Amino acid sequence: MAEKAKLAILISGRGSNMAALLYAAKSPDCPYEITLVASNDPGAPGLKLAEAESIPTFAHPHKGLAREAHDAIIHDAVIRSGAQYVVLAGYMRILSDDFVRKWMDHMLNIHPSLLPKYKGLDTYQRAIDAGDKVAGCSVHLVTPELDDGPVLAQTEVAILADDDADRLASRILIAEHQLYPATVAKYVTRQADPDWILAQVRERALALEETHERASFGAPGWRVGSEKSGKYFAYFAQSHHGEASIALLVKTTSLDEQSALLEAEPDLYYLPKFYGKSGWIAIRLDTGRTDWDHIASRLYSSWCQVAPKRLTKMIAIAEQF
Ligand code: GRF
Repeated sequence: MAEKAKLAILISGRGSNMAALLYAAKSPDCPYEITLVASNDPGAPGLKLAEAESIPTFAHPHKGLAREAHDAIIHDAVIRSGAQYVVLAGYMRILSDDFVRKWMDHMLNIHPSLLPKYKGLDTYQRAIDAGDKVAGCSVHLVTPELDDGPVLAQTEVAILADDDADRLASRILIAEHQLYPATVAKYVTRQADPDWILAQVRERALALEETHERASFGAPGWRVGSEKSGKYFAYFAQSHHGEASIALLVKTTSLDEQSALLEAEPDLYYLPKFYGKSGWIAIRLDTGRTDWDHIASRLYSSWCQVAPKRLTKMIAIAEQF
């Protein structure tokens, strides 16, 4: 099994979501481990539970400290623990932009509503008062705006006719305890998930001008130009022709460039069957270390090779300025 992802969990209170994550991490095939439970409240009950389970803990009260200063102390503790992800589990502090930026795409939160509905507090009563039939919980990536980052997963929880906020909250909490460990596990292994990898490629390929997607022999491919006469500039290969399991095929500028790439990084590039002769190259996407900016620039360079002159001419002109 690949090395486990390392998480730091931040709590302020009872820590039941922390407990759910911690117990899930005891399973040998769980893809993450917990390196730290940290809190802004030294009296948080969750800290005691973590200690009893031999998880390192850290607490530093925020009182009297500027937000940035307190966040920096927490950040240091997280880094020292070796964590690669920050998982918020009832952490009742708004985080500074600086902290959020440092952990961008590596910090998750759970919120007791079906986001984008009911950001902030008092979510249960607001759902009941609105006459909603369902409430629920959401796991999302943390961005500077409160409870606003991309939602990774949600669970719907039916609202019963005689529900009050407490009863609803306790059922949503059960759903949270299922959702959070599963979503964290999926997120930390996303780099090996073919669907996630494909979505990354797709986003970058379709960001180029006049492109569309069309399957070629069952594999996703991207073309530039019209639907009718467009030309392929990239193919997604998954266990294609018995080669490495996931790769992107793009066109190089010449056979010389193709062989230079193969020679420079034999672990990253390989010669694709059938396409190799016409200057295409395969880039492995299953190494777990994909540099997505590099993929974007390879897609662009391949696009330039086959794009109609009217498109590349405009770029050539723009590049002169
Ligand atoms: C949960 O309701 C969670 O959705 C919210 O804070 C609460 C934390 O509870 N973010 P616990 O400390 O995990 O028990």
